[in-house]
Amino acid sequence: MKFLFADGQSANWYFKYVGLPLSVGMAIYTLFSKLADKRRRAALRGKVVVITGASSGIGEALAHAFYDQGSKVVLAARRKTELERVKGDLQSKKLAVPTLEPVCIELDLGDLDHIEDFSKKVYNACGTVDILINNGGISYRGNILHSKMDVYQQIMNVNYFGSVALTKAVLPKMVENRSGHIVFISSIQGLIAIPDRAAYAATKHAIQAFGDSLRAEMYQHNVNVTMVSPGYIITAVSLNALTSSGEKHGVMDAATASGLTPQYTAEKILDSVVKKENDLVVSQFVPKFAVFIRHFAPSIYHYLMAKRAEPTKLTVK
Ligand SMILES: NC(=O)c1ccc[n+]([C@@H]2O[C@H](COP(=O)([O-])OP(=O)(O)OC[C@H]3O[C@@H](n4cnc5c(N)ncnc54)[C@H](OP(=O)(O)O)[C@@H]3O)[C@@H](O)[C@H]2O)c1
Repeated sequence: MKFLFADGQSANWYFKYVGLPLSVGMAIYTLFSKLADKRRRAALRGKVVVITGASSGIGEALAHAFYDQGSKVVLAARRKTELERVKGDLQSKKLAVPTLEPVCIELDLGDLDHIEDFSKKVYNACGTVDILINNGGISYRGNILHSKMDVYQQIMNVNYFGSVALTKAVLPKMVENRSGHIVFISSIQGLIAIPDRAAYAATKHAIQAFGDSLRAEMYQHNVNVTMVSPGYIITAVSLNALTSSGEKHGVMDAATASGLTPQYTAEKILDSVVKKENDLVVSQFVPKFAVFIRHFAPSIYHYLMAKRAEPTKLTVK
C-alpha cells in the first residue's frame, strides 16, 4: 500500500523534493557557520585581552577561554596571589595553539585615582589593548531602608566608575588605531531590579546606559561594544556581596549555587565577542522571562516583586 499525503503526493516524493534538499541545505549551512566560527576565533590569536576580576568566577573562566584561543591575557584584580594561581593554571595547559605568557597586574577598581597607572602598566607590558573586558565587580544583599550611603558609593565606584575610568583610559588608543572592543559584564539586574539588590542593580543599569551611549559614539571609530547580562552563575558573587552595613554577606545563595557554570558563560561571551554582537543575555529561562514581564506586563512584575520583598529577609540590625 502506498502512503499518500492529503495533496496526493507520496512520502517518497516529499523526501526527494522537500526533505532531502532541506537536509542538504541545513548541513551546508551548519558546515559554513562552523568554519566561520573557527575563522573568527582564530582572529583572537595574539590579541591583547584585558580582563578585570580575573582572580575568580566569570573572569577566571574568561581568562581560560581567551588564553585557549592564543590571546595574550592580562589578568587584573586586587588579589595578586589569586591572579598568579590563575596564570599558573593557564600555563599548565597543553594546547594545540601557540600560547602567550599571561600578565598579572594588580587593580583596585574602586581606587579611581590609580586607574590611569594601571592602564600605563598594561601598555608598558603589552604595547596595546585589543579587547577590554570590564568584568570585576561586587554584589549586594540589603534593603534600602537600612543600607548605609557609603555601601552604595563603594559598589558604584567598583561596578560603574571603575569600569568607566578604565574604558576611558584605553579608548584614545583604540580610536587612534580604528580598532578595539569593549565588553561589559553587566547583569540581568542591569535590565530589571529586584528587592534587596538596589545598590547593585543601580550600578548595572548605569553601565548598560553608558554602554549604549559608548556604542553609538564609537561606531564611527570602528570600536565595538558588547554588553553581557548574565543570570545566575555559579561563582563566589553572593559570598563576596556587601550587606547594608558594608560587611561581607558570606552566604552562597541557592539560586547562584544552581546557576550556569562560569565556563559555559565564558564560552557564550567569547562567541558573542567574536561575532561582534551588541548584547548578550546568558541566563536560565526565569530571569529572561522576568525581563519580558517587566516590559510587557509591568503591573504583574511590580506585584510579584512586592510579594517577593515581604517579609524583608535582609533587614540588617
Ligand atoms: N555570578 C553571577 O550570578 C553574576 C550574575 C550577573 C552578573 N555577574 C557579574 O559578573 C562579574 C564577575 O563576578 P563573579 O560572578 O565572577 O563573582 P566573583 O567570583 O566574586 O568575582 C568577582 C571578581 O571581581 C573582582 N573584584 C571585586 N572587587 C574588585 C575591585 N575593587 N577591584 C578589582 N577587582 C575587583 C574580584 O577580584 P579581587 O577580589 O581579587 O579584587 C573577582 O575576581 C561581576 O561584575 C558580577 O556583578 C555575576
